[in-house]
Amino acid sequence: MPFAGTVTPAPPTRYSPPLPHPPALRPCTAPPGAPPVSGEHMPVSATLAANEALAARRSRGEPVLPLAFGEAGLPVPAALRDALAAATSSNSYGPVAGCATLRSAAAGYWQRRGLPTSAGSVVCGPGSKPLLYGLLLAIGADVAVPRPSWVSYAAQAGLIGVRPHFVPAAPGEGGICDPAGLAATVAEARAAGREIRSVVVTLPDNPTGRLSRPATVRAFCEVAAELGLIIISDEIYRDLVHDPATPVLSPAAVAPQRTVVTTALSKNFALGGWRIGVARLPEGSLGSWLQGQLVGIGSEIWSAPAAPIQQAAALAFREPEELSERVARSRSLHAAVCRAVAGICRAAGLDVPAPQAAFYVYPDFEPWRGHLARRHGVTTGAGLAGLLLDRYGAGTLPGSAFGENAGALRLRLATGLLYGDTDEKQEAALAAADPLALPWIADQLTRLEEILADVAS
Ligand SMILES: Cc1ncc(COP(=O)(O)O)c(C=O)c1O
Repeated sequence: MPFAGTVTPAPPTRYSPPLPHPPALRPCTAPPGAPPVSGEHMPVSATLAANEALAARRSRGEPVLPLAFGEAGLPVPAALRDALAAATSSNSYGPVAGCATLRSAAAGYWQRRGLPTSAGSVVCGPGSKPLLYGLLLAIGADVAVPRPSWVSYAAQAGLIGVRPHFVPAAPGEGGICDPAGLAATVAEARAAGREIRSVVVTLPDNPTGRLSRPATVRAFCEVAAELGLIIISDEIYRDLVHDPATPVLSPAAVAPQRTVVTTALSKNFALGGWRIGVARLPEGSLGSWLQGQLVGIGSEIWSAPAAPIQQAAALAFREPEELSERVARSRSLHAAVCRAVAGICRAAGLDVPAPQAAFYVYPDFEPWRGHLARRHGVTTGAGLAGLLLDRYGAGTLPGSAFGENAGALRLRLATGLLYGDTDEKQEAALAAADPLALPWIADQLTRLEEILADVAS
């Protein structure tokens, strides 16, 4: 009998060897060229940093136009508040992969979207961001990502000590690598001795607000299969496609053995602060290996998602009518405000792809390049975002935060915080037949018009 406190030897590793992938996780290393000891630190994620800069201005009483942070500023639906309140006595850690109720609710969610899913292939975590990090860490090799793409894929790869390889998005689309570009990038990287084992897609996309076409998804999956890549399909905006008739094709429907899908409640229910996300692992040997790795990583970092949140999340993923209706109303609100913002940018002479989903507009200020340089000394996206913040209190994110070249004059405008600063205003925005007519939304749109006119003058 060992004494209490005696350390017993660690059991042998619980994972059977993976199939196409070596099991070893790469140790975390400092990014290439980083000094071993310095006063530098890991920068705060661009989107969170921009939010903090705006909050500081607001606290000084200065006016702000909040277009930087990718959050839907909407209240928590009453049914979810009640479900959370009823679950506060759930205080056990529970299983690392999430409780059975949530895993089977998430499986049902995917099933209703045409992806057959068993509860056993679902892993839950405190947001999809840590799940994505866990996946990249488990895969342990370089990753291909679209240019532009969400800020954290490349940053997470850097944290893990692997490299992101940017591949231009398919022309006219967003969130998916151009298939031919993917083949060329992977071939080049492999010839240079780099190992790329996965590729990320975002369907629909942040920052462009675009959704890739089914034909592109098929061509992309074919190339990914030829290259032996694992596909990580981030579908957190899946339910916010503005026109519900637009076809959405998940790579998991085309390449089921090699595609992991992630989603969360942060966007469709505006529950980012609840920190809950889910991953759907593929069936088969690759899926079981990846799932084992992900659960092992989760067990050492977050232990399990918060138990009461899981109970409320299970209700959300079951999608009772009241909650589906709420998502439908928020989708219409996002669509109306995105269209209006895109229209203002277009009327000012900017190039703007028509937003198709979520709450993002991605204008290109290229037509103003000469004027911006002459009149404002601005030659980069970051310089342009700085001008808008410093002179007008308008928070935006430059394309460079999403992997674009510094000289690109594209900005991401996130429209989800234009709905009002109180629950009452936000509820009114959700209920309004014409949300653009509400004074607090109309005023901010007018402010954007004025800012663009002033910059252009
Ligand atoms: C494309 C994309 N994926 C994932 C996330 C992370 O969301 P969460 O960790 O809240 O699930 C975000 C949040 O901004 C996002 O825009």
